[in-house]
Formats: sequence, C-alpha cells, structure tokens
Amino acid sequence: MIQIQQNVQLKAFNTLNLNAIASHYVKIDSIENLIAALDFADQQQLNSLILSGGSNMLLPEQIHALILHMNIQGVEIVEDTAEHIKIKVGGGQIWHDFVLMTTEKGWYGLQNLALIPGLVGASPVQNIGAYGVEVGEFIESVQVYDRLEKTTQDVLAIDCQFAYRDSIFKHDPNRYIITHVTFQLLKQPQLRIHYGDLKAAMADDLTPENLQKQVIQIRKSKLPDPKQYPNVGSFFKNPVINQTDFDQLLTKFPQIPHYAQAHRCVKIAAGWLIDQTGWKGKKIGSVGMFEKQALVLVNYANASLNDVKHTYQAVQQDVKQKFNIKLEPEPVLFDTNGLIRSHSE
Ligand code: EPU
Repeated sequence: MIQIQQNVQLKAFNTLNLNAIASHYVKIDSIENLIAALDFADQQQLNSLILSGGSNMLLPEQIHALILHMNIQGVEIVEDTAEHIKIKVGGGQIWHDFVLMTTEKGWYGLQNLALIPGLVGASPVQNIGAYGVEVGEFIESVQVYDRLEKTTQDVLAIDCQFAYRDSIFKHDPNRYIITHVTFQLLKQPQLRIHYGDLKAAMADDLTPENLQKQVIQIRKSKLPDPKQYPNVGSFFKNPVINQTDFDQLLTKFPQIPHYAQAHRCVKIAAGWLIDQTGWKGKKIGSVGMFEKQALVLVNYANASLNDVKHTYQAVQQDVKQKFNIKLEPEPVLFDTNGLIRSHSE
C-alpha cells in the first residue's frame, strides 16, 4: 500500500534547505510501491520527481508533481571470493554509513568517498568522485526500473557510460529509476593516495582505515557541514577545456591548478577561479560562497531558489569576465512541474 501525502514541505529533504512545497509526495520502500506510485501519477496526470538524499538538487518554491522519495533498504552479498566481494545495496541506504560498513567488514575501494552526502541510489547518477576515485570504478551493475519498458533491468557498469560527474542516468533522467546498486569491492586493499596532500596526511599508517579517516578529516576541514551551512557540495563542475585555450590561460595565470585529461584536454579547479575573483567568503543577501572552499555555495538563511540564482549567476559572470570560462552548475535544476531544466535556459 502506498500513502500519498499532499502539500508536503521538502525543506528538510534537500540539503540546501530550500523551501519547496510539493503538491504530492510518497515514500518508496519497494519496487512494488514504486510501480503503484507511477501508476497513480499516470492516472492523475502528474509528473514524478525522484528525490534521493536531496544533496544535488535545486527546487522551486512550489512543485506540482508527485515526489517519489526513494527509501529502498538492504545489503545482500551476491558473491564472495578471496579476491573480491559483490554486494547488492538498496538505493535508500545512506552513502556514508554504507562506506563505513564496507571498511569495517574489510571490503575496499570506497574509502576515498567517505562523508559524501546523499544515498547509495544517487551515487551512480553523477558518478560521485573524490580524492582520485570515482564510484563507477567499483560498480558492477545498477538495477533500475525502466519506465519505457515497464520492467526492472540490470544495467552493467560498461553500459552506464560513467565519466566525470556523468552517466547514462543523467542523459536519460525520465527513463530509469535506480532501485539498487551492485558493487564489486576488493578483499586486499589497493590504496589510492596520490590526490593532493592525502599521502602526506596518511604519514606512516598506510591502511584503508587510516585512508578513510584522513579523507573524513580533510573534508571536515574544508567543506561545510550541511546541517550547519546548508549546501550541495561543489556547486560548479571543474571546467574541462582544450589544451590550446589552456596554454593561453597559463601564460596569464601561471598558478592555475589543473589536471591533464584524455584527448588533449585540461581540467581546471573551479574553486581556484572563483577564489581569484574574490568570491570566497562573499555573499549576496543570504547566499554566498563558503569561506574555506569557494566552490561550495551556502544558504546562510532561508534563501529561495531565486536568491541562489542571483548569487551563482554573479559568480559565473565574474569568472567569465576574468578567465573567459563559463562555469556549469553541478546540481540538477527542477521547474514547478517537477521536470529537469537546463541551467542555460
Ligand atoms: N582552490 C582554491 N580556492 C578554493 C578552493 C580550491 O584555490 O577556494 C584550489 C585548491 O587549492 C586546489 C584546487 O583548487 O589546488 C582543487 O581544490 P580541491 O582539492 O579542494 O578540490 P576541488 O577541485 O575544488 C573536487 C570535487 C569535490 C571533491 C574534491 C576532492 C568537483 C566539482 N569537485 O573539488 O567534490 O571532494 O575534488 O576530490 O569535481 C562535489 O562534487 O560535491 C565535491 C565536493
């Protein structure tokens, strides 16, 4: 049985704490519930909006749609050998708790991704990544409900088209609803400690437990706790530009932090660009860029989506003027009908 609620405030369900009243809302604990809720939305001619941990979304103040709040639980061992373990995890599990559990069990790979907000089911969507690891590397398959075929399907990692903050689930958001994720993790640790000053932070204790601990410490030292300073993590993607444009930029700004990519492209640290325009710790009204990490936008008090737009568009403008680079927001923008909108419209 599903219980549809009306006029539900989503402020506590999105980490930017935007006021957003949804006309219809339902919590989804199983695939059966999901199918029943989609049928209801069809009957009522409502769009449905998938809400997971709410840590990567921008919501308007009124939403006329059915919010499907994903809450499928469970961790099931699918295969266990001396080298690896395969586990199928409900999309509603809290990501950070899941990472802590894998480390405790001696299952390795995800330690660099500790403390990322959100739920397991959202992790493949933008292929969450931090400190040199992207989740796609450790995913075997993603179980989805395919709204076109009206069946559940397992999408193998190779078909997920994982890339930097990107996957097939971002390209086709109205088709697939993620219900479970199957991970393949290592039994023997292979530490990934080459990002930034991670190696130095680890000192002599080269264990996965210490790696996880250091990642947590670094994140806590730079990134605002969403409970205290509502935010959606990095607000912009790190821009990727071609080598020729980059060489020109480098002559003007030799300090620019950058990372070589495939196909003669270079990824630039958006946080640095924003910092250089003087936006670190600066606000317009109640929305500003965080004082310790300029890439993180914070809602300091009761901001609306329009307030957020005001600030981030001003940041975009300043960066464009100084570096001739267009920053692209990372979180997903929804309209009042619960549909995903492009930021450039
Ligand atoms: N920098 C500045 N000023 C700032 C912020 C950064 O000069 O205010 C410089 C840093 O000194 C460093 C460089 O920019 O040289 C990169 O900074 P950092 O290592 O903090 O990482 P980032 O590129 O800003 C990315 C991810 C984060 C992830 C970290 C660590 C994106 C958009 N962001 O941030 O992911 O935690 O690397 O791997 O790729 C997220 O996506 O929500 C997120 C937090």
